[in-house]
Amino acid sequence: MAPRARRRRPLPALLTICALLARPRVTFQITPPCTHERHYERFGRCCHKCEPGKYMSSKCTTTSESVCLPCGPDEYLDTWNEEDKCLLHKVCDSGKALVAVEPGNRTAPRRCACTAGYHWSADCDCCRRNAECAPGFGAQHPVQLNKDTVCEPCLVGSFSDAFSSTEKCKPWTNCSVLGETEVRHGTDKSDVVCSSSLPSTKPPNESKIYLPGLIILLLFISVALVAAVIFGVYYRKKGKAVTANLWHWVNEACGRLSGNKKS
Ligand SMILES: *[C@@H]1O[C@H](CO)[C@@H](O)[C@H](O)[C@H]1NC(C)=O
Ligand SMILES: *[C@@H]1O[C@H](CO)[C@@H](O)[C@H](O)[C@H]1NC(C)=O
Repeated sequence: MAPRARRRRPLPALLTICALLARPRVTFQITPPCTHERHYERFGRCCHKCEPGKYMSSKCTTTSESVCLPCGPDEYLDTWNEEDKCLLHKVCDSGKALVAVEPGNRTAPRRCACTAGYHWSADCDCCRRNAECAPGFGAQHPVQLNKDTVCEPCLVGSFSDAFSSTEKCKPWTNCSVLGETEVRHGTDKSDVVCSSSLPSTKPPNESKIYLPGLIILLLFISVALVAAVIFGVYYRKKGKAVTANLWHWVNEACGRLSGNKKS
């Protein structure tokens, strides 16, 4: 029984020691940790790295912190760093069928991609023109940017009659919708051929005749109107002389006619 009573005693003493030890630990955690991501060690010191978008123009000394300066207009750094200069943005050369998809800034690199109709090829490390699908095959849609063409055979009811890297298979023409009859079946490479039956062709032919006639009539009316206006102006100026002359001429003509008759 006696050993048991002895063992109970040290417990409260241990707890007080633990409480005392915990205090210095709390103060120790307050000092910032020297992480490798954002800090570096020099002269036994923990110094700051430069944030993305800045380079280190001078490292820390025993008495001073690192000096960071911003990257130039066409430069970037996308990490916390100790670099003595920034990286230059790459050029998206349009002559190599490249185009910038992300312009880039001081903290992110510019990203280039192949222009529409081209895809990136690891073989040549360059942009290659997209493959064309042969007749009977259509390009799979939606066309993916920077990816080569995927050709798929035209299913029954559709066709493709040309080499193309973008065109889908087109559906055959529906002759009955046009009011015509099918004279040749379609294939995967050619459309259905429709032929118009006689009754359906008459109305368009008639309108073709009517239309020029209508235009000529309108022209004639407008010419007549212009002539009438011009005559109206002329009449106002020399109106009486003209009518007098006209009457004189008419009378003379009638007189001659009646004279001829009498003689
Ligand atoms: C820089 O570009 C990146 C990616 O394009 C973007 O996420 C970031 O917000 C830009 N930063 C600034 C400061 O414009
Ligand atoms: C043509 O269209 C009509 C009406 O939309 C439809 O009933 C018919 O099945 C179609 N014919 C073909 C060959 O697709």
